[in-house]
Amino acid sequence: MDKNIYKKRRESLKHHLPDGCALIIPGADLQYRNSDSSYALRQESSFYYLSGFCEASSLMVILNSGENISSIVFVPPKDKLKEIWDGYRAGPVGAVEDYFFDQAFENSKIDDLMPELLQGIKRIYYPIGKKAGFDQKVIDWTCSANSKDRHSQSIDIVDGSSMIGNLRLIKDEHEIEIMKRACDISAESFVEVMKAIKPGDNEQLIEAKFLYEFGKRGGRFPAYTPIVAGGENACVLHYIENNKDLNKSDLILVDAGCEYKMYASDITRTFPVGGKFSDEQLAIYKIVLRANKAAIDAVKVGNNIMEPQLISEKIITEGLVELGLLKGEADILHEQGAFKDFYMHKIGHWLGLDVHDVGDYMEDGDFMKFKPGMVTTIEPGIYISSSMDVDDKWKGIGIRIEDDILVTESGNVNLTAKVPSDPAEIEKLMA
Ligand code: GLY
Ligand code: MN
Ligand code: MN
Repeated sequence: MDKNIYKKRRESLKHHLPDGCALIIPGADLQYRNSDSSYALRQESSFYYLSGFCEASSLMVILNSGENISSIVFVPPKDKLKEIWDGYRAGPVGAVEDYFFDQAFENSKIDDLMPELLQGIKRIYYPIGKKAGFDQKVIDWTCSANSKDRHSQSIDIVDGSSMIGNLRLIKDEHEIEIMKRACDISAESFVEVMKAIKPGDNEQLIEAKFLYEFGKRGGRFPAYTPIVAGGENACVLHYIENNKDLNKSDLILVDAGCEYKMYASDITRTFPVGGKFSDEQLAIYKIVLRANKAAIDAVKVGNNIMEPQLISEKIITEGLVELGLLKGEADILHEQGAFKDFYMHKIGHWLGLDVHDVGDYMEDGDFMKFKPGMVTTIEPGIYISSSMDVDDKWKGIGIRIEDDILVTESGNVNLTAKVPSDPAEIEKLMA
C-alpha cells in the first residue's frame, strides 16, 4: 500500500487550512466489550484518511505555517512486552520512516509538547464534540499555549468537522476502487444468501451467513450491525435483534454491508422468504422500486440532494394513493407530508469510510449539489406496521431498497447493481 497517498492528502490541506493555523485529529482508542476483552481496533476514519496508521491512542497535528505544511504524530511507544502480547508497533521512528510524518513522538508526551506546538498559532481546528474528554484536552493545551506568552494573540478554537468532512466527501480514484470492491463483496453476499434462504430459518442464521460471505471475500467486519428483519420487524427501522424465525409468507428485509479496507458498503434488499411475492407485497414493492430507480436517475451533477428526496416522496405518495392507502390528491398530500406515516426517513446519506459518512448536506445556504466523486445511498422505503389504520391485508409489510451510487462527470454508477432489485429477477434467483 502506497503511504504517499496519505502524505499527499495531508499536504492538500494547505488549500483548506488557513495560514498560521493547526488541525488536530485524534485517533481511536481501544474499546472493550467486557472486562479486559477488547474489540479489534477500528481506527478513527479521518485519522486513517490522513495517515493510513492503525495504532490506538495516536494523535495528529497538521500545521500550516504559511510557507509549508508539516505533520506531527503522537504514537504508542515501542514496548517489547506489549508487542509480544499485542503485536508490532511502529513507534515514532517507524511513523516517520514508514508513514512519512515530519515529526513523531511517543503519545505519553502529548500534554508536555502540545502547548509548545500550538504556541503562536492563530486558530486550532479540530472535530468538536466527537471524542469523550477530548474537548477539555484541547482547551487545556490552548490555555497552556496562551499562557506561555501573554503578549501574543490568543488562540481561537474552531470546529474542523466540515473542513475534513468535505475533503472526504469527494472520493479519489484509490478510494473509488476500494468502494467498488466493498460493494461487490456485499452484492455477491446478497446473491448467495437470497439463493439459500428457507422458510423456518432464523434471522440470526441469515446474519451469520452474511458475515461468512463478507469474511470469505476479505470483508472481515460489517460496516454496521446488519438489520435482518422478517415480516413486521422490518417496520422497526433499526431492528438489530435478529433472532426470530422466518415465515414462508413474509418478506425479509436485510440491510447489510461489509467494510472492506476501512470503507463501507450499505445495501438493503427486501425479498420473499418463500421465494414468491404476494399481490399486496408486490404492489408495495413496485412503488418502492419506482422511487429507488427514479431517485437514482436524479443523482447527477447539476442536481442537489433534495431532487432525489422530492422525487421519492412524490412517487411514494402517488403509489399509496393508487392503492387507497392514502386518500386525496397526491400533490396536496405530498405538500402536507402525508407520506411520512409510511416513509419516515430520508432518501440517503453520504457513504465512505463511515457508513453515515462525513460531509455537509448544505453549501452556501442551499442544499449540497452533487459533484463527481461523491457516493450517496439511495434508500426509499414503505413501512406499514400492524398498528396503522389501514386494511389488514397491508399490515406487516416493510420494504426498503437501498443502493450505493457514485456520482461521475456524466451521470452516475450504481455500485450495488449486481444484486437484483427487480422482483421477477429476485423470484428467478430464489427459485
Ligand atoms: N444501514 C444504515 C442505513 O441504511 O442508513
Ligand atoms: Mn443507508
Ligand atoms: Mn442500509
